[in-house]
Amino acid sequence: MNQFGKGAILLAGAGRMGSALLKGWIAHGLEPERIFVQDPLISEEMRDYCREYGISTADIQSTGTPPEVIVLAVKPQVMDAVLPSLARISGPGTVLLSIAAGRTISSIAAHFVQDMAIIRAMPNTPSAIGRGISALYANQTATPDQSRQCEALMTAAGETVWLESETLMDAVTAVSGSGPAYVFLLAECLAAAGEAAGLPKDLAAKLACATVSGAGELLHQSDLSPADLRRNVTSPGGTTAAALGILMAEGGASAMPSLNDLMTEAVMAAARRSHELAS
Ligand SMILES: NC(=O)c1ccc[n+]([C@@H]2O[C@H](COP(=O)([O-])OP(=O)(O)OC[C@H]3O[C@@H](n4cnc5c(N)ncnc54)[C@H](OP(=O)(O)O)[C@@H]3O)[C@@H](O)[C@H]2O)c1
Repeated sequence: MNQFGKGAILLAGAGRMGSALLKGWIAHGLEPERIFVQDPLISEEMRDYCREYGISTADIQSTGTPPEVIVLAVKPQVMDAVLPSLARISGPGTVLLSIAAGRTISSIAAHFVQDMAIIRAMPNTPSAIGRGISALYANQTATPDQSRQCEALMTAAGETVWLESETLMDAVTAVSGSGPAYVFLLAECLAAAGEAAGLPKDLAAKLACATVSGAGELLHQSDLSPADLRRNVTSPGGTTAAALGILMAEGGASAMPSLNDLMTEAVMAAARRSHELAS
């Protein structure tokens, strides 16, 4: 037995996030023969991947043994169609690990007759390169062993943090779940601004992408906080200070909101939407 447990693991949904997790598990030593993938319209690429590693795409019911873990990685809209079949194949020792955005534990539990161990996780897209971060929350039925097992499954895609309350999941979704899109937008805006400042389009895009990814990597590798890294490249009266004077302008004479104000509004909007989707 390793950190991933010892029983069968059923992955329901092998789309973007499901396949990122699957590849992370294999890379971290989860035995392929323990994995079952259920996706009625699995892509050719994922089918080939499963074949190459000896991962089963057969119906897990044919084994006659309930899975130890069901990882639910389908879109929230199809969950109600998928959950009844998962309820039929789960056993008393099964834990359900859901990565679906905006679906509460109680809305998932309603599909199960037995008191089901359910763990909710919110990953993000850098999971595809093993650099994601997932926030987890377990219901009271989940045992410490099941929590550790699910944490290990999510750790294969990056870092993990545990939440003390499920209500924090909306804010987590708004910060780290949707956050990569804000960073990609930053690269787009920086490229467009570079073009406006006179750079050829391709050069502006290259400079912007390399800057955002390089700064992200520097932040990742450095022990310094983002604020310290920013201060370190800002000489008083220099070019960076001139730009930050616009981005960080707090109210006052400027009619423009600061980046901080805009980001706060954006994160609030995402958190509200996450809450709406859950209700
Ligand atoms: N992508 C993200 O950044 C992100 C971040 C956090 C959480 N999530 C959550 O992760 C979940 C998956 O998102 P995704 O981006 O990976 O979506 P996706 O790429 O659309 O993957 C969902 C997969 O589930 C498959 N599927 C549909 N019906 C199914 C069924 N009855 N049984 C089994 N599989 C079925 C889909 O097949 P078809 O393509 O044929 O429909 C697809 O391959 C969502 O709930 C989302 O909220 C995603």
